[in-house]
Amino acid sequence: MKTGIIYYSAHHGNTKKLLDAIRQIDDEVDLINVTEGERDLSEYDRIGIASGIYYGNFAKQVLAYAEKHLPAGRPVFLICTCGAPRRGYYDQIRKIMQTRRCDELGAYQCLGFDTFGPFKLIGGLAKDHPDADDIAKAVRFYRELR
Ligand SMILES: Cc1cc2nc3c(=O)[nH]c(=O)nc-3n(C[C@H](O)[C@H](O)[C@H](O)COP(=O)(O)O)c2cc1C
Repeated sequence: MKTGIIYYSAHHGNTKKLLDAIRQIDDEVDLINVTEGERDLSEYDRIGIASGIYYGNFAKQVLAYAEKHLPAGRPVFLICTCGAPRRGYYDQIRKIMQTRRCDELGAYQCLGFDTFGPFKLIGGLAKDHPDADDIAKAVRFYRELR
């Protein structure tokens, strides 16, 4: 199954670490950095949307890209890393998916090293994440997608 994962991973490359591990077990996956230009996603059977969390949301770059390029009716899975876990991080991206009638296959969230603003002064949050266990769980999540 051909899978395209659009992503934004600019803070520490935390989210990209998960995606690189997924790419290693499936060579039918394309990793599409939303900062590297526009791309037609209609060739993919399913779409992954992955991002670090910025100000309580998937990165605005990913949201704008999905708004523009997410093909209608395609199954979607979500991956994110964050300094502190919360469920509401998916709200905006899910709204976009709903407007395209895209079913959600699943969502995976784990900690990602966070040195934003004042957290830098205390050595950052979620140091050393994603760790090997976070990465292994992301790969398992991907393997178990239908
Ligand atoms: C500008 C900025 C805003 C952030 N906002 C949040 C936030 O609202 N909630 C949170 O849990 N983490 C927040 N973080 C931490 C990132 O989500 C976390 O470090 C993530 O793993 C970054 O992923 P990346 O390295 O793939 O970009 C923020 C980081 C930055 C730089």
